Amino acid sequence: MAPPVADPTLVADVAAVVGNRREAAWIVEHATASGAGPAGAHRLAARRAAGEPLQYVLGTWPFRSVEVAVDVRALIPRPETEAVVGVALAEATGPGRHCRIAVDLGTGTGAIALSLAVEAGAASPGLEVWATDRSAEALALAGENLARLAEVDPAAAARVRLVAGSWYEALPAHLAGTADLVVSNPPYVSESEYPGLDPEVREWEPRQALVAPRGRSGVAGSADIEAVLDGARRWLAPGGTVVVELDPRQAYAAVDIARRAGLTGVRAERDLTGRLRMVVAHR
Ligand SMILES: C[S@@+](CC[C@H](N)C(=O)[O-])C[C@H]1O[C@@H](n2cnc3c(N)ncnc32)[C@H](O)[C@@H]1O
Repeated sequence: MAPPVADPTLVADVAAVVGNRREAAWIVEHATASGAGPAGAHRLAARRAAGEPLQYVLGTWPFRSVEVAVDVRALIPRPETEAVVGVALAEATGPGRHCRIAVDLGTGTGAIALSLAVEAGAASPGLEVWATDRSAEALALAGENLARLAEVDPAAAARVRLVAGSWYEALPAHLAGTADLVVSNPPYVSESEYPGLDPEVREWEPRQALVAPRGRSGVAGSADIEAVLDGARRWLAPGGTVVVELDPRQAYAAVDIARRAGLTGVRAERDLTGRLRMVVAHR
């Protein structure tokens, strides 16, 4: 079926409300596709004009190979995190490598875990992707996204296991020493930075998905990055890889923490704009 054509007059009306023509076109397309019609488009536009993030207004957002439902229960998946998954896939599924156990710590919407299940799955027979979160609300949303994936790609969805708990504590003990890949986008905004965040982030996205205490390295916002790196050696299989997203200011300390945690081949990786946005390390 051809995609719905956005009515230009309606797009112009909505653009006058939200102040952005491209967003208006998305809102109208979304309302048209969902059968909500012009009245629905105006309701969405009013939410956007009140400051709600576009992603929450639309209710779904693309992340690499998947489309996830997004709402106030979890962080909106970011493009930076798509790059983190790209690096993780290159590490874990390159030639001669077989990824059987992958772990996504702090899964939120489930975006990382679901995209790993889709993209690593075909080349990795028997792959299991374990996705954890401490937030029951986030895990409920991840469960809804897993059910959505099951409708379009049941084989990929069957690879994913959602478990509740703090970082590695959520994992069953038998996984210790077996993970070929650990990926995490943990909270890494400092307490002092939080009040200065864009109100669209601060007033809508869950605080516990964003803010972390100072790490023992002394670096603000680094405690959760350090928790993930500290536990990696115990949970990774020999040769396994951990990839953790971070703020560029946290990169040098994270490399140091990873080395002290007994990991090898430690490096910080830049994103497409040249900023250090993740640490990669191996057992
Ligand atoms: C920055 S968000 C990332 C969400 C998702 N992975 C993404 O990239 O869009 C961090 C996630 O970690 C979760 N989290 C925070 N503290 C945690 C902990 N101690 N154990 C497990 N998950 C935690 C939050 O609930 C949130 O879903």
